[in-house]
Amino acid sequence: MGQEYKLNTKSKTLKNFRLVAKTSFGLEQVLAKEIETIGGSNITTGNRAVFYEGDLEIIYKSNYLLRTALRVLKEIELFRFKNVDQFYLKCKGIEWSKYLKIEQNFMINSTVVHSKDFSNSMFASLKAKDAIADYFREKTGKRPNVNTENPEIVINLHINQDSCTISLDSSGESLHKRGYRIKQGEAPLNEVLAAGMIFLSGWDGTTDFIDPMCGSGTLPIEAAMIAQNIPAGKFRKNYTFENWADYNYEIFEKVTAPKPKKKFNKKIYASDISGSNLLNAQTNARRGLVFNKIIFQTCDFKDLSITANNATIMINPPYGERLKHENIDELYAMIGERLKHRFAGNSAWILSASRENFKNIGLKTSKKIELYNGSLECRFNNYKLFSGKLSGS
Ligand SMILES: C[S@@+](CC[C@H](N)C(=O)[O-])C[C@H]1O[C@@H](n2cnc3c(N)ncnc32)[C@H](O)[C@@H]1O
Repeated sequence: MGQEYKLNTKSKTLKNFRLVAKTSFGLEQVLAKEIETIGGSNITTGNRAVFYEGDLEIIYKSNYLLRTALRVLKEIELFRFKNVDQFYLKCKGIEWSKYLKIEQNFMINSTVVHSKDFSNSMFASLKAKDAIADYFREKTGKRPNVNTENPEIVINLHINQDSCTISLDSSGESLHKRGYRIKQGEAPLNEVLAAGMIFLSGWDGTTDFIDPMCGSGTLPIEAAMIAQNIPAGKFRKNYTFENWADYNYEIFEKVTAPKPKKKFNKKIYASDISGSNLLNAQTNARRGLVFNKIIFQTCDFKDLSITANNATIMINPPYGERLKHENIDELYAMIGERLKHRFAGNSAWILSASRENFKNIGLKTSKKIELYNGSLECRFNNYKLFSGKLSGS
């Protein structure tokens, strides 16, 4: 059984659970900091994951407020097994009726590492699904249905060698789906990665923010939400914890009760060479209620002129593919040259997947951070833009 603790709050006693928030590689530390801010306890970081403890309120806050979590799992069972038959029996021995009603549909997600018994995660999911079906059939003569499209309950299995952790996924659809992005061009950034990049840069809304290749506007929209303390989940319609037997509407209402926005009087600039991309960014910003906080412009970065000092410039240029009208090497050389000559006195951050691209920037790197954009390994490099000569990276 996943450890459960008693925790005294002012009015009631809430159980404390062992939780895992999943994230993208490189964002573990910023996520841990966010979890600390919302009141999680016993926080430790892992690979693409942060482990912590918290009660139902913390689970709801984790889903509604964390900007760098992809999903939040609540551990319900932890066991070791010797072979597949024992795995099945241990799964069947769980009191599933506590977590799943016969009329609710469900789905199982599995990850398997270093297992001699399970060569793939599908096989583990299948065995666990059989165990759950047999548990219910033996008890009631009926079984809950599987639904892989839009499940009401999502069960997560993590098998590492001979140990298995079973959790309930409290989020359902990945939390990067905030609900504001209705229009997107090619290669939009994942919202969780965008928020993580902003946190990693240290930008906190006390200076201007500039994204001169904004595409569908993910970075400036996330920046505007961070600056005004707009909850990450404000536009999201649902979470799977709302289908749990222990769902507490009052606590969720308390967590989502509207709070005053933080005052923000610096500037956020978003521009792009493509007019249609800029329109997408504007539509998304309107949907995210931050349109009036962003200054939009259709403009080639080559011609962009903004008077800024101490601003954070964040660029996610095209990479990996050849540009139609322009050579990618020239594009990166232009970015380096413009940063140096037009944006001295500011701090620039560039996310790109290719070392060659960074060489073409031609500026001295102050910081290099390894991140993943989907499955693509990237560097997120910082350039402090002093005036003076260009020097190689
Ligand atoms: C990888 S996408 C950015 C995606 C964006 N971060 C998002 O989340 O949707 C790169 C963007 O750079 C823009 N771009 C390419 N060359 C440009 C230039 N010279 N000046 C300004 N924008 C440019 C493209 O139109 C495209 O929208």
